[in-house]
Amino acid sequence: MDELRLAGAKAAEMAAGHLAGVGDGPVWRPVPDDELAWLTGQELPETGRPLDDLLEDTRAHVLPYPMGNGHPRFFGWVNSPPNPAGVLVEPLAAALNPSCAGGDHAGPHLERTVVRWLAGLVGFPHPPGGGLLTSGASIATVICLATARQRAARADGWDAREEGLSGRAPFVLYVTEEGHSCLHKAAQLLGLGARNVRTVPVDSAYRMDVGALRAMIGEDLAAGRRPFCVAGSAGTVNSGAVDPLGEIADVAAAYGLWFHVDGAYGALGVLADGAAPHYAGLERADSLALDPHKWLGVPVGCGCALLRDPGAARAAFSLVPSYLMDDNAGDLGWFAEYGPEQTRPFRALKTWATLSHLGRAGVKRLVDHTTGLARTLAAMVEEAGDFELLAPATTSITAFRHVPQEAPDGGLDALNRAIPFAVQARGNAFITGTRLGGRDALRACFLHPDTTERDLVVLLDEIRLAAKAP
Ligand SMILES: Cc1ncc(COP(=O)(O)O)c(C=O)c1O
Repeated sequence: MDELRLAGAKAAEMAAGHLAGVGDGPVWRPVPDDELAWLTGQELPETGRPLDDLLEDTRAHVLPYPMGNGHPRFFGWVNSPPNPAGVLVEPLAAALNPSCAGGDHAGPHLERTVVRWLAGLVGFPHPPGGGLLTSGASIATVICLATARQRAARADGWDAREEGLSGRAPFVLYVTEEGHSCLHKAAQLLGLGARNVRTVPVDSAYRMDVGALRAMIGEDLAAGRRPFCVAGSAGTVNSGAVDPLGEIADVAAAYGLWFHVDGAYGALGVLADGAAPHYAGLERADSLALDPHKWLGVPVGCGCALLRDPGAARAAFSLVPSYLMDDNAGDLGWFAEYGPEQTRPFRALKTWATLSHLGRAGVKRLVDHTTGLARTLAAMVEEAGDFELLAPATTSITAFRHVPQEAPDGGLDALNRAIPFAVQARGNAFITGTRLGGRDALRACFLHPDTTERDLVVLLDEIRLAAKAP
């Protein structure tokens, strides 16, 4: 173990050095051909290599080519920098290397605490056992929708796990066009059929039109289909919009639908000054997806499914073969009974460390700072003659587009579609694009505690420069 001790100290120094210097280099740069050849073309060594060699290779070929999300001017998709407390404990989780499927060891016990903390932060009800950590929101969504599907079948007097879905009235899921693709993937994976996912229209602020939702449910019922779930968003990926959750909860209650909220990115936005009214109704959801690896900055690989009725998830997933029986498991059983994963990594340690390091006040400070940046950028965009704001900045995302005085060849859509990569290639900022309201748009997502207003000025200048030579 002396080799690990020495190399481990060096790895810690490399990690700290990387994080300390990340803001000085380009936000992103393409992997050059020779490095690509190294990364993709290696043969498995015949004999094992010393630990120090692996660190030197990592230093030379891996650390120089990050995705960019550690940099304060990375504004792409929804990818945060890692919280240092999360980085600190990752090797310790690996050193313990437990499976957090269940059992009496630190991992599952700590996971109970972390899940309770997450629910408490956003004001979601937390009965004992009411949630579990996942790889991300995509799997959290599978868990929540599978639970909703089984509950609906049971309410109708049959068992979807036992019988499958064939021969039954199609289950219908309602999402807006701004709903995340993971909702569609989950519906497809669960055998619901893409055609049974209804796209509910949105209003001018990209929030669900609840009147249209009611009308669609009515049409589906009249046609003999089985509305079973409506998924609202607490922070869409395109514009950060928060659906009218209270009104959706009313409709779900009126029709007996499962109410799921995708708060993977934005649920923590409820902590921002003055934001709570936008989130009213979140606490009435049956399930909530909330990703610690987004706004909180827990190192990637940590989502969370929160459930109002833990028993419903257990009924949808529990399958305990004789070789996994545990007479000492207690009333809640094993985490593996609440989702599809059997062997489960120790996600709780990095989440516990991050939350403990930030504290409630630190989480709020981060949310206030980043939502403030989104609002400031929105104001700068509105003041500038060559930008147009496309949506209100309710969370930490600003959706906008470049509208230069001189009409570009090919039109504004083509220009705004070309801008993100042109900005990325310049290396001074990183932004991604989308389609919003039928137009090509730019969107900047703020998650980094060290991003400043000066960085917003750089961003707009970089877009102008990139637009001149996209
Ligand atoms: C709003 C929203 N929902 C769901 C997801 C999917 O989460 P994950 O990538 O953790 O599976 C994302 C990812 O960015 C998201 O932004």
